[in-house]
Amino acid sequence: MSGPPVRRFVDETALADGAAEEIVRSARNASRRRGRCTLVLAGGSTPRGLYETLSNEPYRARIDWSSVEVFWGDERCVPPDDPQSNYGMAQRALLSRVGVRPAAVHRIPVECGAERAAAHYEQEIKRTTGEALPRFDLVLLGMGSDGHTASLFPGTPRLIEERRLVVPAESPSPPRTRVTLTLRTLNVARRILFLVAGTEKAPALARVIGAGTAADTLLPAALVRPRHGSLLWLVDCAAAGELTAPEDGAR
Ligand code: 6PG
Repeated sequence: MSGPPVRRFVDETALADGAAEEIVRSARNASRRRGRCTLVLAGGSTPRGLYETLSNEPYRARIDWSSVEVFWGDERCVPPDDPQSNYGMAQRALLSRVGVRPAAVHRIPVECGAERAAAHYEQEIKRTTGEALPRFDLVLLGMGSDGHTASLFPGTPRLIEERRLVVPAESPSPPRTRVTLTLRTLNVARRILFLVAGTEKAPALARVIGAGTAADTLLPAALVRPRHGSLLWLVDCAAAGELTAPEDGAR
């Protein structure tokens, strides 16, 4: 069974440009077909360069940000102005620089505690999308060196959540208390793009891309397999250092 498609880039700058191109394509396609784009942003540090790239020309003018609904795949339970806030990073690097409507920025309200924030965010997602099981148009995800994605960590019961769209989560590293979309939500998305960079990710990436189907051995990122959507891994050469099959030549 071949793994998911992987596209390699020579460095993080090329990765950001390649990801920006894919995001422009997905956003325009969604807006054309459905009148808007529901976009889920990734957290962590890798996407910052991408968000800054999207906020500058030539990409900035190629997305109609007034038709984009912005969500997050996960959030750390820290104040929005905390340097570790996924919302705060995206707000500084992208959202404050493009014409997204404030009402279309669906921040996870972590100030009310992880459990209540998860419940509120789930209702916000359902209200905004009008769907009990929302099919996001585009989900951006990162991956940790342990193979986690969003705030779905290896060996945690949250991985097998089959009812809720959003749950509280505990991270093994600070900030420990998080809120995250579940695999149930991720795996009904129309399109998922992973962005992975750095040599520290290479062992986990090789395990994820080369993973078979024995679910019990899979890392959380390998469990992201949209049933009726597309999946594409965008990686730099450093992260791809242990991949065996050069799926796609470096760009
Ligand atoms: C988070 C992210 C998390 C992130 C990975 C990679 O809140 O931390 O959602 O899943 O994507 O940990 O993080 P880096 O991009 O900082 O390596």
